[in-house]
Amino acid sequence: METPKEIFLKDYKMPDYYFDTVDLKFYLEEEKTIVSSKISVYPRIEGSSPPLVLDGQDLRLVSVKLNGKALKEEDYHLDVRHLTIPSPPSGKYDLEIVTEIHPQKNTSLEGLYKSSGNFCTQCEAEGFRKITFYQDRPDIMAKYTVRIEADKSLYPVLLSNGNLAEQGDLEDGRHYAIWEDPFKKPCYLFALVAGQLQSRDDAFITRSGRNVSLRIWTPAEDVPKTAHAMYSLKAAMKWDEDVFGLEYDLDLFNVVAVPDFNMGAMENKSLNIFNSKLVLASPETATDADYAAILGVIGHEYFHNWTGNRVTCRDWFQLSLKEGLTVFRDQEFSSDMGSRTVKRIADVSNLRNYQFPQDAGPMAHPVRPHSYIKMDNFYTVTVYEKGAEVVRMYKTLLGSQGFRKGMDLYFKRHDGQAVTCEDFFSAMRDANDADFANFLSWYSQAGTPVVKINTSYNSEAHTFSLKISQEIPPTPGQSVKEPTFIPVAVGLLDSKGKDILLSSLYHNGTLQSVSNSNQPVYTTVLRVTKKEEEFVFTDIFERPVPSLLRGYSAPVRLESDLTESDLFFLLANDSDEFNRWEAGQILARKLMLNLVDDFQHNKPLVLNPNFVNGFKSILCDLSLDKEFVAKAITLPGEGEIMDMMKIADPDAVHAVRTFIRNQLASELRLEFFNTVVNNRSTETYVFNHPNLARRALKNIALAYLGCLGEQEFTELALHEYKSATNMTEQFAALAAIAQKPGKTRDDVLADFYGKWKHDFLVVNKWFALQSTSDIPGNVENVRKLLNHPAFDLRNPNKVYSLIGGFCGSPVNFHAKDGSGYEFLGELVLQLDKLNPQVASRMVSAFSRWKRYDESRQNLAKAQLEKIVSSNGLSENVFEIASKSLAV
Ligand code: TRP
Ligand code: ZN
Repeated sequence: METPKEIFLKDYKMPDYYFDTVDLKFYLEEEKTIVSSKISVYPRIEGSSPPLVLDGQDLRLVSVKLNGKALKEEDYHLDVRHLTIPSPPSGKYDLEIVTEIHPQKNTSLEGLYKSSGNFCTQCEAEGFRKITFYQDRPDIMAKYTVRIEADKSLYPVLLSNGNLAEQGDLEDGRHYAIWEDPFKKPCYLFALVAGQLQSRDDAFITRSGRNVSLRIWTPAEDVPKTAHAMYSLKAAMKWDEDVFGLEYDLDLFNVVAVPDFNMGAMENKSLNIFNSKLVLASPETATDADYAAILGVIGHEYFHNWTGNRVTCRDWFQLSLKEGLTVFRDQEFSSDMGSRTVKRIADVSNLRNYQFPQDAGPMAHPVRPHSYIKMDNFYTVTVYEKGAEVVRMYKTLLGSQGFRKGMDLYFKRHDGQAVTCEDFFSAMRDANDADFANFLSWYSQAGTPVVKINTSYNSEAHTFSLKISQEIPPTPGQSVKEPTFIPVAVGLLDSKGKDILLSSLYHNGTLQSVSNSNQPVYTTVLRVTKKEEEFVFTDIFERPVPSLLRGYSAPVRLESDLTESDLFFLLANDSDEFNRWEAGQILARKLMLNLVDDFQHNKPLVLNPNFVNGFKSILCDLSLDKEFVAKAITLPGEGEIMDMMKIADPDAVHAVRTFIRNQLASELRLEFFNTVVNNRSTETYVFNHPNLARRALKNIALAYLGCLGEQEFTELALHEYKSATNMTEQFAALAAIAQKPGKTRDDVLADFYGKWKHDFLVVNKWFALQSTSDIPGNVENVRKLLNHPAFDLRNPNKVYSLIGGFCGSPVNFHAKDGSGYEFLGELVLQLDKLNPQVASRMVSAFSRWKRYDESRQNLAKAQLEKIVSSNGLSENVFEIASKSLAV
């Protein structure tokens, strides 16, 4: 392998040529597809005619014509990655290129490929170059016309972006369709689908009266399972109008579900393509979590129409411009459709469990990366989730109305353009005349800031002081960091647990009012911009308990001097519900870390009775939202705790988490039992907040009881399993039983497979339940499942369920004997031959190998070395594996 080339943001250059219109013609056949492309080209600088360099990969060039004349071989140059025309004419010209491709052999699921017999495309980030030669970069925006021709009986449905302009029959049982997209777009938003599909049809009338046809396409038998996706789409369309004033801009919106897809879904203009698991749902086959994911992702892709498509990215380094913003938008949408607090809790847990470790490891990168080898590797939790936190901070600083003003200005300035993160920043700033100080460094510095807060009360001066310091840890390639702008939302509780009215505070020696209107203020946002500074609240007449970083106002690790009793007090009283949950989590994290220490020193494990009582009072508080209770009684994940240790010890963390769960289950068995019984469903399944909250609470109670492995509770779970009328409860009961090895487990797993073997999405849950199991020596079982008739290494969902699931079980993946590492090492190399994007996501499980003890380090390192030195490795896997080894 040639050493892969690294691409740098600082090397960005405007293109020499722009494309005005693109006419594509696809001749779809069984053994090959012919693509002919006619592009009108013009130079950026009038009169200049530098070489025209087009990207292309795995293409067979059939012919090139310039202004209708075939180019001779000496007039162009072809290498494995490019088609170059060294001396093109100056001025405008038409370029016609014919290529031959083989979609049926394309297992990378990038470019044009086949999934279950249907043709579909995935072009983001750089897949269009596998379809035809093109300047495959998002700042080339053109108007597309697409003609698709195929056998009519095999491919009755022919779809592309925009409006259907024409269709008709041809000879030999073939037919064609012509699609025209009136909006300029980058090629990564191009899409084509051809196959045997049927649609659920509906309509949405926009607020200005445009009637939009909505169609969700799947194989005929799955159409009944698209009702929730259609509901979600209409809800998203309405929400974007209500909240952002954004309307849909075409007469047709298509969604297609495909079973083989590398990611969740793709926002191609008016032709979104989805991983089936994010479209198909019925009460019997999908869980509440699936329903929620569908709502969020349908929203996400729809919202891209404005944040991503109408305004797109100048280059791929700006990815968070569309992804961070669109994740923020889908988070807000889901909040408004369900419980805001619970959604926030879920998003913050996700950030802590996945993004924090990335930000502290060898793949740490800023929200806007400085370089990449393979862009696919940068569709990360940092770009998406931390990026969404950065957008959220604008809103925290500006308020809802100020944020909306910024969004309006962003669209007014940049509709139809390919822009940068600074453009978004400037729109937010200019619309509000805001001072964002050093906020931009959130885009350029990697690493999770550590914020320390020390508080003190002065009973004579009636002041309450917060001394706040920040420190951003070094990350690969960035040893020195500057302080950044951290909005810290703060409230103060009086001794009765009520919010204290805030009037003014001293900052940098000046007294400021905390509000500029006459509204009473109970939460204020401190503008922390320096390495160390002090904020002093005045007129505080008793020692308060501070509620810090309310709503998680910045993506930082907070260390404060709150005592255990302060935290219990906040858990019971804080008006900020997020911080009530957070107080419980801080207590749980401390408790777990202390017990891990005891475990490592062979001390007996004892659970603090205060913790059990606090836990019990939450579990039994009928005034609380049930979904909130379910979150509040969930212990921090093992990954989150390992992330806080000097040397991550998966066995100790697992033992401790298991111990606490057992202890709670055993001491609160009656409470858990009642929770299960009192939260059984009577009506048929509805996906709404009261119902899903009830199921969430019941299911977690059942899981606690299941960990005891006692006959009585196994029978209870079996009863729930058998009587369940929806997948949410059926699967939770199965999972509760599956915690303990033995005959019951084996029988119920077999029963479940027998029931659902015809439904591949349910079978994936069955794979995942087994692969994530912490039963000792599970690697053997997972190896067996690789040979299960329902498994297929070419289907990403199956790989994520079985192999990804396995890597998510710390005890088994990090097994002392290296068996987990060896398993992953082997599979990464097999997968890389089929699908580099998927292989690369799997190899990432190794990336934090340095966090473990020496013996584990050596075992993991050996696997990474084997991978990096193997022949024919993809750039995708090379980048992750080599960067992992470099630290
Ligand atoms: N833009 C897609 C999203 O909404 C991400 C995506 C879908 C993607 N398929 C992909 C990214 C393939 C890289 C490769 O988030
Ligand atoms: Zn997206």
